[in-house]
Amino acid sequence: MSLWLGAGRVVAEAGVVVDGAVRVEGDRIVAIGARREIERQPSDRVLDAPQGTLTPGLVDAHTHAAWIGSRHDEYAARLAGADYEEIARMGGGIAASRRAVQAASADELAATLSARLGRMLRQGVTTVEVKSGYGLDEAGERKQLEAIAEVARDPAMPAVVPTYLALHAVPPERRGDRAAYVRDVEARWLPAVAAAGLARFVDAYVDRAAFTVDEARAVLSRARSLGLGVRLHVGQFADVGGAALAASLGAASADHLEHLSAADADALAAAEVSAGLLPVASFTLGQAPPPVEALRRAGARLVVASDANPGTAPTESLPLALSLAARAYGLTPRECLDGATTHAARSLGLSDRGALRVGARADLALWALSSEVALVQPWGAPPLVAVVHGGRVTAPG
Ligand code: NIG
Ligand code: FE
Repeated sequence: MSLWLGAGRVVAEAGVVVDGAVRVEGDRIVAIGARREIERQPSDRVLDAPQGTLTPGLVDAHTHAAWIGSRHDEYAARLAGADYEEIARMGGGIAASRRAVQAASADELAATLSARLGRMLRQGVTTVEVKSGYGLDEAGERKQLEAIAEVARDPAMPAVVPTYLALHAVPPERRGDRAAYVRDVEARWLPAVAAAGLARFVDAYVDRAAFTVDEARAVLSRARSLGLGVRLHVGQFADVGGAALAASLGAASADHLEHLSAADADALAAAEVSAGLLPVASFTLGQAPPPVEALRRAGARLVVASDANPGTAPTESLPLALSLAARAYGLTPRECLDGATTHAARSLGLSDRGALRVGARADLALWALSSEVALVQPWGAPPLVAVVHGGRVTAPG
């Protein structure tokens, strides 16, 4: 079946079309133009919002959505003044989510992820990157990645990009010999994950209480040689050289960046590493924003993502991240939209989405908003008329 969508504003790659329309055949956009020019076929389903705005479906390029359980105790402790790194040292944080993943069956993990991605879809998100990183041993990481793969096969879900994040934390039982943990990841588990086609990217958390540049380099270089892309968590709490590593590896993305020098902003931009901004996390942690102006001046591509996780970014809402990126980071509404569409898709290596153009995948969000500028204003809950992913129509939540 084909689909005809009309809107007061169609935010196309070539520019905004006022009183525009888009035609979809199967899972592709086949025409974009003024509403009078885009024919309706007898077989068309019609979604028309003459006062609304049509944008690309949103792309959430950094999530830890495959989590289960609850970390409300730790959140309450943090509200009462406890520090995130302190909680992690005491066995909370990532290690707490790891225990919940260990206790869950693969089916429970998949069901929880599926429900979560369904809610994300109903907020306009049509592609989601999902990391492992709460397994932290061979079986646990595989269980997460297999749950992600299972959910990814469901056509009712947003498109899923799986990322292997074994270097999220050293599991407590391996703290005595962290080098052996990193070696296991690099030499044994990662090649098996790559061979099974369970990840498109490999991520590493490089920070003072996480992994060193040398540890991450070993694993990420191996990832490159296995044909996988790399992305990094960098400078969330301290600048320990993660951004320079991301630049030297030609990473797809370096994310967080609260602690980033102007020289490293230049290096990221020069190496065409996307700058992943995660304003929900820095808001939750009460941190100052990354050096957005330095990144902008350097010409870095800014991506905005939810970082959805049960610790530092307890949200499923990319629109909320956009609202915060505007209000707390000073991004313009246009930078927010690009950061969650074109630039996000590019950082995931997906050239067929993130922009409305003929031939692109039919991933669209039809907003009950009179302008795309309004997307960042209703604090994480911009109203939707419909979401289209791969040509399939889903009603909003
Ligand atoms: O992106 N920084 C490391 N990882 C996550 C936090 C994960 C967690 O607390 O469970 C982040 O903020
Ligand atoms: Fe993260």
